[in-house]
Amino acid sequence: MEPLPGVLLVTANVGSLFDNVGEIQTGWLHEFYMTVHRHKPKFIALHFQEVGGKDYMSIESSQEMKEYNRSCVYVDNQFKAEDRFTALGSMYFIHSTLKDVYQYDFTEKFPKNFWPDFKWSRKGFMRTRWNIHNQGLDLVNVHLFHDASNLIACTASPSVYSQNRRKALGYVMDRMLVTLDSPLPFFLFGDFNFRLDTLCLVEHLSTATDVHTVNKEDSNEVEKITWEEKDNDHKVVLHIEAKQFDYLHQAIFREDNGQALLKYDKEVAAFHDVVREEEILFPPSYPYSEDYTEPTQYMSTRCPAWCDRVLMSPSAHMFLHRSGNNEDSGVIYDTLGSNVCMGDHKPVFLFFALKTSGH
Ligand SMILES: *[C@@H]1O[C@H](CO)[C@@H](O)[C@H](O)[C@H]1NC(C)=O
Repeated sequence: MEPLPGVLLVTANVGSLFDNVGEIQTGWLHEFYMTVHRHKPKFIALHFQEVGGKDYMSIESSQEMKEYNRSCVYVDNQFKAEDRFTALGSMYFIHSTLKDVYQYDFTEKFPKNFWPDFKWSRKGFMRTRWNIHNQGLDLVNVHLFHDASNLIACTASPSVYSQNRRKALGYVMDRMLVTLDSPLPFFLFGDFNFRLDTLCLVEHLSTATDVHTVNKEDSNEVEKITWEEKDNDHKVVLHIEAKQFDYLHQAIFREDNGQALLKYDKEVAAFHDVVREEEILFPPSYPYSEDYTEPTQYMSTRCPAWCDRVLMSPSAHMFLHRSGNNEDSGVIYDTLGSNVCMGDHKPVFLFFALKTSGH
């Protein structure tokens, strides 16, 4: 019997690669090619967010990809249409030995007035439909709204941003499940901008501290909040501003892959009926330093979070072939380039062998 085809799904927010072309881009591509080489997938889907300009990476023409003799690239290049531009790019590569692959494409976006209270800022989703070994499936690239202010994010649980993302993801789910054509199993991977429940997390990080709130000059508006140790010379443990999140014991976010903080990652839970996800055994994928000498350092702009994810419908989850025991099932869910600067987001990938009919 033919071996099951390996599938590699990658999501990568590459916004910072276009700001710092050069060192980062070379390292990024190297990590990607190494992963392809290591797992030898028959089918590769790369979902990019924040693709800038026309000058994006020339993966298709590279020597490393020469065994993939079919590729499709979809880039939203309507840069001028600022109120609709999503900056999404999806690339698909098919290995020369993979037979019976068909593709139908259609792209979708959020309605223009979807976030009446927010600036548009390059968000949306893009769907492509595939048939591999007689099995239809949808692949959806998605980019949801971010947390504009850390201060606002920690005023309510769930935050207003989290509620917005929930509404947006609900819209995507409806499109997937209630379309005129019959719903197919789907993989939904992108930058969901999921954040930790900031209010609950801050309560956890700031036990046994005194809190100080500083307002903007001549205003009731909060400018910064600091939490200081009660003794120990009142050392500042946590300092939050709209675009600053400075935690004294930052190492906690990478220790044991941030497992102690996963309980604050709650945004997928609202969709537990309709999506599945493999267990997360990697540290938060954002916001890493863009300094290529500090590949494992988080920036103190945002609370580290698992923004970048690979989700799937329960029916798609059944396609993940599991061999061996649980520890080594052959299914891999991880970040790309954990020890290399990949920009502010580490890409996240899922590799698995695809169970199709006849297996
Ligand atoms: C890709 O390679 C395979 C195997 O050599 C070949 O059968 C197929 O026709 C090729 N497809 C394209 C589009 O070149």
